[in-house]
Amino acid sequence: MNSSYNSEYFCLLSGENPELALYELESIISSMNDLIQLERTFDSRIVNIKLKETLLQNDERSILQKLIQRATMVHCCCKLLFQVEYKNSSTNEFNELVQSFDTNNLLDLEPTTTFCVRTRRIRNPVGILTKPQITQEITNYFGAAILKRFPNKKVDLEQPEELYRVIVSKYGLWFGLHILESLRQAVRKRTARDRPFFHPSSMNPILQRTLVNLTAIKEGQWLLDPFCGTGGALLEASRLGFRSVGIEIDRRIVWGAFRNLTSDKITFPLTNLIFGDAKHLGFRFGAISAVITDPPYGTAASTKGYDLNDLLIQFFIEIKSILSPNSRLVISVPSTVNLEEEAATILNASYRKFYQYIHRSLTRKILVFSLR
Ligand SMILES: C[S@@+](CC[C@H](N)C(=O)[O-])C[C@H]1O[C@@H](n2cnc3c(N)ncnc32)[C@H](O)[C@@H]1O
Repeated sequence: MNSSYNSEYFCLLSGENPELALYELESIISSMNDLIQLERTFDSRIVNIKLKETLLQNDERSILQKLIQRATMVHCCCKLLFQVEYKNSSTNEFNELVQSFDTNNLLDLEPTTTFCVRTRRIRNPVGILTKPQITQEITNYFGAAILKRFPNKKVDLEQPEELYRVIVSKYGLWFGLHILESLRQAVRKRTARDRPFFHPSSMNPILQRTLVNLTAIKEGQWLLDPFCGTGGALLEASRLGFRSVGIEIDRRIVWGAFRNLTSDKITFPLTNLIFGDAKHLGFRFGAISAVITDPPYGTAASTKGYDLNDLLIQFFIEIKSILSPNSRLVISVPSTVNLEEEAATILNASYRKFYQYIHRSLTRKILVFSLR
């Protein structure tokens, strides 16, 4: 453990794909100049995070805000007050562990606010923990501990000034003060169909935003989407404050993407749209720092007569000529496309692979290449 990091928090990751959620967080953190350190816990849906010791309290909050409001696969972030790992979740063990909670951990809290404790069970807790009355008992137990320490605090279940969360999983329990909610629900509500121009090949905004984050792009850098379609990636990049360029070969779709971008009050020239071909990019080496793309599969989106594999190989060769070492290329392809080894060789890159179920006939394979 590195002693120059303290102030522990924990984040609850989305249960949809915890492995991808963790990598999204790691990618964002790696773009934040070592201000945050992330630690896995005994449950893959919870990660502990520590902030650099030298940060002031206000800076801590704004750094956390940047992280949590950017990530798409996190639910919330809490100040860590207590965590325990259990082995068999029997009544005895559980009571013992929970009662090992030391109310001195509550030392720094505001003494007079209204508050509420909410308990959430994740990952099918086993044994006694599946019983709703246990959840209620846990909630009451932590509520009583707070009141014992701060008798002037008042419980308010409707509009509390402070929210305390207990997360009970199959492997352990976390208790903390809720600090930030992610924008996940708001991003999930946006759909590609809400835009002025829709095409059946459009990717949903939440996945587009995840892909942007996986590039580990930093402020001020340029992101490229060489098969940009209706402009979904450019919209998400712009919302996150990044500069971007999109390339699209179909004139009608370029026009549609332009309508989508202008209706979203995108500022040109921070977002650029080019009518062109991804096989001939023409950027100078190093001008682009991150590439995210969702190439045509030859079904909803046309490959313009090209075999998909040939098109992608040409594209990887082209990308290699513009991306500098340490840049990332994030690409989403159908799970049936097996090009990762060949692409890694062309790009001289290591890669990570994730699967994301979309619907019965489409599981996406998300490949993140990190250039050496
Ligand atoms: C799967 S779609 C991209 C969807 C996009 N992510 C969105 O949300 O709208 C792929 C796009 O690549 C375009 N395309 C096909 N071949 C291309 C090429 N050689 N260069 C650039 N774009 C191309 C297609 O016209 C299509 O709009």
